[in-house]
Parts: sequence; structure tokens; C-alpha cells
Amino acid sequence: MKRLQDKVAVITGGNSGIGKGIAKRFAEEGAKVVIFGRNPETLLQAKNEIGGMILTVQGDVTQTEDLQNLYAQSISHFGKIDIVVANSGVGERIHAANVTEKNFDYMVNINYRGVYFTVRHALEHLNPNASIILIASCAATVTLKRHSVYASTKAAVVKLAQNFAYDLSDLSIRVNSISPGYIRTPIFDERLKQDPEYLARREANIPLKRIGEPQDIANAALFLASSESSYITGVDLLVDGGYSASFLEG
Ligand SMILES: NC(=O)c1ccc[n+]([C@@H]2O[C@H](COP(=O)([O-])OP(=O)(O)OC[C@H]3O[C@@H](n4cnc5c(N)ncnc54)[C@H](OP(=O)(O)O)[C@@H]3O)[C@@H](O)[C@H]2O)c1
Repeated sequence: MKRLQDKVAVITGGNSGIGKGIAKRFAEEGAKVVIFGRNPETLLQAKNEIGGMILTVQGDVTQTEDLQNLYAQSISHFGKIDIVVANSGVGERIHAANVTEKNFDYMVNINYRGVYFTVRHALEHLNPNASIILIASCAATVTLKRHSVYASTKAAVVKLAQNFAYDLSDLSIRVNSISPGYIRTPIFDERLKQDPEYLARREANIPLKRIGEPQDIANAALFLASSESSYITGVDLLVDGGYSASFLEG
């Protein structure tokens, strides 16, 4: 028996990077998967790559009608929703002295408000015993230069998971967050093109001496989505090769 057999999972940002890795892993384990994002080309590419029973829905997490359409289409196609992964997010590294209201609103609207309403609009459609997973970041735990806006949106996401977990326990819905460390996704590869030493510098500071792959986050998401974690709610699972533990040379 596959671990997500007959489950229906909605994944925002399932057309790239970590979200696509989660969509693939869930499909391998028998889930029917709905992927949501703004870019129709990458949605189509992801659908072709993943195979299996995949529905793509184009939309923006900052737009109420798009989120309502996401859930309406998911229900009309697959009849129910068991898992929601609120993964869509953007990161701009900007020194606090240079942050504009535009930068601030952009990240807050997608990373915090977008995650909030991805969950809020799902609620009327979710099965009892559903699992909700919010993708935060180790930036919520460690303090990094030029991350004041991004990191605070991710700290909000960690806190949201705890508060949703408490409120939604009335409905037997579990809510947890995952905080990835450095994961090799298109953003990371873009950075490497500009700065070829970037990978070596990052890996030197990670106790397990490698950056993560989308698969590492997907495996953690699979555990939190499946019944194997049925007594776990309100936790933040750091998946960062030990980076946030801040080991110091003795
Ligand atoms: N990679 C890392 O090292 C790392 C570390 C910690 C946390 N994270 C978090 O992990 C999540 C995924 O990141 P990633 O590295 O996989 O980045 P990515 O490859 O750039 O993927 C981001 C995804 O979010 C979607 N998205 C962005 N804005 C959206 C919007 N307004 N509405 C709907 N979808 C939107 C994008 O799709 P469209 O562009 O088509 O909309 C894309 O699918 C993010 O929340 C990120 O903060 C990543």
C-alpha cells in the first residue's frame, strides 16, 4: 500500500523547486495532486514531468478569486481534499536600510498573507483528519544579513502553523510547518551563476556538509502528510542539514 494512496493533495508553487519535488514524491506515493502557480509554462512542464494524476490550476496566492477557483477546481476534479501544502514564496535579499514599501508588500503579500488565505479558503473543503503543511524557512530561526523582511514573513508562517493547529484541532485537522535550509532550486542555481564560490561557502557552514535537494524537503512533507505523523501538530520541522543548530568549532 502506498503511503498516500487515494489522497488528494493541493500544492501551491508545485510548478518549481521544492513544491515540484513535493508534488513528485506525493504522486509516487499514490496521491492525486493539484499544482498551483502563476506561470502556465512551468505548470505544464511540471505536469508532464511528474506524470500520474495531476491537475494544474493557474493563479496567484494573493488573489482571493484565484484561491477560491483553486479549491473549486480541485473538488470538481478529484471530489475531496486531504492535504494542502502552502509552499508558494518569494525571497529578496535587501539590506534593511534599502527596503521600500514595495519590497515589503511584495514579500508579505505572497509569503504571509498568501499562506494565511491559502489555508483560510481551503477550510470549507477539507476532509476531517486533513494535514496542512506550511513551508517556512530556517531564516525564521537563524539571523541572516539582508533578510529582515523575508525572515520575518517566515517567522510569521511558523507561528501561523501553531495557531492554525490549535484552532483547527476542533476539526481534527493537523497543521505543521517545515523550515528548509539551503535547498538546490532554480533560485539557488541562479545565484551560483553569479557567484561560483557560493556553493562551497554555504556547504562549509552546514554540519552535514551539503546543501539540500528538493527531495529532502519532500520526504519530510510526505511524513507530515501521511498518517505516520497522526499525533504531530503545531511543530516546525527544520530540514537544514544542522545549519540552524549553529555548531561552533570547539
Ligand atoms: N530554496 C531554498 O533554499 C529555500 C529555503 C528555505 C525556504 N524556502 C521556501 O520554499 C518555498 C519554495 O521555494 P523554492 O526555492 O522552491 O523557489 P522557486 O523554485 O522559485 O518556487 C517558488 C514557487 O512559488 C510560486 N509562487 C511565487 N509567487 C506566487 C504567487 N504570487 N502565487 C502563486 N504562486 C507563487 C512560483 O510559481 P509562479 O512563479 O508560477 O507563480 C514557484 O512555483 C518558498 O516558500 C521559499 O521561501 C526555500
